[in-house]
Amino acid sequence: MCGIVGYIGKQKAAPLIIEGLKRLEYRGYDSAGVVVLEDGAFNVAKKIGRVANLEGEAARHHFHGTFGMGHTRWATHGGVTDANAHPHVSSDGQIALIHNGVIENYATIKKFLLGRGFTFKSETDTEVLCNLIAYHYAKEPPAAEGDSRFVESVRKALHHAEGTYGIVVMALAVPGELVTARKGSPLILGIGDGESLVASDVAAIVSRTQNVVYLKDGEIAHLRAKDFSITTVASGEAAAHVIDKVNWSIADAELGAYAHFMEKEIFEQPVALENAMRGRFAEDGSTAQFGGLNITANEFRGIERFMFCACGTALHACMVTEHLIERFARMPVECDYASEFRYRNTPLYRNTLFFVKSQSGETIDTLAALREAKRKGYKVLAVVNVVGSTIAREADGGIYQHVGPEVGVASTKAFTSQLLIGAMLALYIGRMRDLSFGDGVQIVNALKGAPDLVRRVLQQAPHIRAIARRYAHYTDMLFLGRLSLFPIALEGALKLKEISYIHAEGYPAAEMKHGPIALVSEKCPSVFLVPNGDIVNKIISSMQEIKARKGPVIAIASESVELPAGLADEVIRIPECHDAVLPIVAAVPVQLLSYYIAVERGCDVDKPRNLAKSVTVE
Ligand code: AGP
Ligand code: GLU
Repeated sequence: MCGIVGYIGKQKAAPLIIEGLKRLEYRGYDSAGVVVLEDGAFNVAKKIGRVANLEGEAARHHFHGTFGMGHTRWATHGGVTDANAHPHVSSDGQIALIHNGVIENYATIKKFLLGRGFTFKSETDTEVLCNLIAYHYAKEPPAAEGDSRFVESVRKALHHAEGTYGIVVMALAVPGELVTARKGSPLILGIGDGESLVASDVAAIVSRTQNVVYLKDGEIAHLRAKDFSITTVASGEAAAHVIDKVNWSIADAELGAYAHFMEKEIFEQPVALENAMRGRFAEDGSTAQFGGLNITANEFRGIERFMFCACGTALHACMVTEHLIERFARMPVECDYASEFRYRNTPLYRNTLFFVKSQSGETIDTLAALREAKRKGYKVLAVVNVVGSTIAREADGGIYQHVGPEVGVASTKAFTSQLLIGAMLALYIGRMRDLSFGDGVQIVNALKGAPDLVRRVLQQAPHIRAIARRYAHYTDMLFLGRLSLFPIALEGALKLKEISYIHAEGYPAAEMKHGPIALVSEKCPSVFLVPNGDIVNKIISSMQEIKARKGPVIAIASESVELPAGLADEVIRIPECHDAVLPIVAAVPVQLLSYYIAVERGCDVDKPRNLAKSVTVE
C-alpha cells in the first residue's frame, strides 16, 4: 500500500531514500516523509502531497547522515496532514517508526500508554505502535550481549499489536541499525556491497543491489550495514532465509520515451505476451505446459471443478478464464471477489482446485482468500506477476506472468498476460479431457499469434486518441459486451473510472433493457464490443436500442462485422481472431480509449486519486 525505504551504508541516506520513495510513489501517496539519524538526533522531514513536496521540505533540513528511512503514506487512520505523515517519533524521543498497514487495537494500546505518560501528536495507529515500542524499550533491561534490547522491545510491542504491519524502526541510542518486521505487508531486504536496504517493493532497491531477501510474515530482521539476522516475531528463534536475485533491472521500471507508465505498459503488451508464453507450449504443438504447478497431470484429472478468486482487474481476468475453461474443458468454474469469498463460508465441493490471480502478489484480500481455501484443505495455485511475493510463496504452486514490473496503478499488461495464461490453462485442462489434438493445435497457433494482433490494434492509437478527444467531456459511460467480452466491458468501465474519474459501468449487452437503459440519453455514450460470432445480431439489436434513445455509440468491432449505416458514431476495428485470444485483442482498445480520455481531461494517469497500486489493507 504505502512505500517503505530504509538505508544503512556509506552514502548520504536522504537523497537515496527520496529516490526510492519516488519509485514507490505509485503505491500510495497522501504524504511522504524521511528521517535520518544524524548528530545524535532524529532529523525528520514530512509533508503532505507528492514526494516532490517532500524534496522541497528536505532541502531545508540539510540532511547529511548515512542512515535513515522514508515512507509514502496511504492514510487509513487520521486525515492527510503533515502531523499524520510518517515517520513518527515516540514522545520520549527514543524510537522512530514507519509503518504500512493497520494496527486494529490501537485505541486500547493508546489508552494504556496515555496512562503511562506518553503523548501523541498525530491521529494515527502508527504513532501508537511507535510509543509502545518506546515503552518496551525503556523497560527492557540493558542488553547482556550486543543490541538485543532494541530487537526485543520491537518484538514485545508486536506481541500486543493486532492487525497488519510492515514496519521499520530506528532507535536513537543505536545508530546504524534498523529493525524491520512484517505481518501481512510486504518487506524486502536489499543486501548490498557494504550497505543494507529494506523496502516494501524491489523497485526501491534494485538500483543499488539485485540481491534480496523476501521477509516472511511473522519475521523480524535486524539490519546493519554489513550483516543482518532474521528471527521469528513469536519466539525469537532464528529463521532460515535465502538470498534471491532480482531478475529485472532499473531500466524496466523507467519511463523511457513515454508520457506515462500506463502508456508504456499498454504499448509493451506484445512483448509482455511473448514473455508470458515463452517455453510454455508442449513440443507437439497442441497444448500448454507449466513448470511450477506442483500438481501432477493425474491429480489434475481428478479435479472436478475450479474456483477462482481475485480483486479488481485480476478478477475480470478470472471471469474470462472461467468462460474459456467451460468452453475448452467443459468443466464447472466459479469466480468470486476474494474479499467476499473469505467471509462467505461458501460450501465447496471436494475435488475443487483453487486459483488466485494477482499482479502484485500482495493484495491482502486475495491473500486472505488463499489462506482461507488452504485452511479448508484445498490446494491453491496462483497466477502472479511479482516473483517472490507473498501470494507466490504461500500458494501450493502456480504460474508467473513474467511481464516485468507494472508501475501504472491501472493494470494493463498484467491483465492481458493473465488473460493469456488463463487461455493457456483452459487449453491445458481441455487437452487432458475432450479437446482434440487438432483443436489444441489451432488454439496454440492462435495464442502464438496474439502479440502480432495486439500490435495491429496498437497501430490504431491515433484513431482512438481522436475519438477520446470527442468523448472526454462526458460524465457517464457504459461498456457493453457479451460472453467472454463481458468481463472486458467490466474492465473498460473500471479503467475509465480509475484514471479519468468518469462514472462508467460494464454490463452484458442484453442486460441493458433490464434497467441500465434508463441511463441512456445523448449525454451517456455506450462502448459496444462487437465480435463476429453466433450472437453478433443480438449485439447489433442492443446497439439499435441505445441508438433509438439517442445514446452515442462507440463500436469496437471485428473487421468482418457489417454494421448498419449510422448505427455507430465511432468505429474501432479489431482483427478477426480465435476465441482464445479475442478478449486480449478487445482489451487493448478499451485500455487506449480510457488512457487517452484521462490524458485529455488532464488527469494524473499513473497516480489516480485515492488509489494505490497494491492494496495491502482490508
Ligand atoms: C487495476 O487497474 C486496479 N488498480 C485494481 O483493480 C487491481 O487489479 C486489484 O487491486 C488487484 O491487484 P493485484 O492484481 O495486484 O492483486
Ligand atoms: N495506518 C497507517 C496510517 O494511517 C499507515 C497507513 C499506510 O499503510 O500507509 O498512517
